[in-house]
Amino acid sequence: MLDFMGNSKNIKRNIVELKNVYVYYKPVFALDNVSISINKGEFVSVIGPNGSGKSTLLNVILGRVIPQKGEVKIFGRKPAVARNKIGYLPQKETFDPYMPFVVKEVVMMGRYSHIGLFKKPHNIDYKLVMDALKSVEMEHKQYEPIGHLSGGERQRIFIARALVGNPEILLLDEPTTGLDVKTQRSLISLIAKIHKGMGITIIMVTHNINFLSQYLDRVIYLKNKVYLDGVPEDILTSDKLSELYGAPVEVFEKDGQVCVMVEDSHSHPHLRIP
Ligand SMILES: Nc1ncnc2c1ncn2[C@@H]1O[C@H](COP(=O)(O)OP(=O)(O)O)[C@@H](O)[C@H]1O
Ligand SMILES: [Mg+2]
Repeated sequence: MLDFMGNSKNIKRNIVELKNVYVYYKPVFALDNVSISINKGEFVSVIGPNGSGKSTLLNVILGRVIPQKGEVKIFGRKPAVARNKIGYLPQKETFDPYMPFVVKEVVMMGRYSHIGLFKKPHNIDYKLVMDALKSVEMEHKQYEPIGHLSGGERQRIFIARALVGNPEILLLDEPTTGLDVKTQRSLISLIAKIHKGMGITIIMVTHNINFLSQYLDRVIYLKNKVYLDGVPEDILTSDKLSELYGAPVEVFEKDGQVCVMVEDSHSHPHLRIP
């Protein structure tokens, strides 16, 4: 079947395309000849140790970091042009618990790039805020001061803020870091629900692939270069991950879920990727 552009709907469409991208911060290469393409609708996770360029990669997609070399195309155009098609949840910043805003005001902040700064929101903006709050199952907290929420609830609100601009791509930078296991699981299943329900493309940077791999179309292992890029079954194997981490990594199934356990000599074995 052909759409109005004459494209077959069954053909995969690359909406994020990085070709031979280099980002250099003296004296390190944050990204060293990285080529990645992401298709419309995919749910992709980017994993790798600290300092491996994961946040830099998201910033390149957002057009906030301009590579010294290489080509970046988002929807076939320059990242800056595509910026308002992308929702972004930054890596956890220091959060001020006294931030004087209620939940729905925080979500509205995600509309200002559309409304224009210093202009008043319209009815449609209020409706979109409520829709975004519903999609993260937090509409009952709309009048709550943001500082009163738990870490997991707050992440939901920040995801709503990223969704309220009606993006086609959602970038999530370590959304589950610092949350307890139960909260991590519920946030991951919420993200998976958003992916399925909205048909949105998701690129999620994470340290912790547990509970997540079942939902993923693809996993990219980044350590300043792309070392692996493939379906979860191919990437998440004990042999491959042990080789990459230079430490024994065990991959096993529990309750139908793929779990990754990394043994490091300084601590007890733990259920996460270091
Ligand atoms: N603004 C910056 N200035 C200097 N160095 C940076 C900057 N941002 C990142 N880096 C360096 O680039 C490398 C990759 O960082 P980052 O993308 O944050 O990695 P990750 O998110 O995988 O932990 C690190 O060595 C980091 O110290
Ligand atoms: Mg990071």
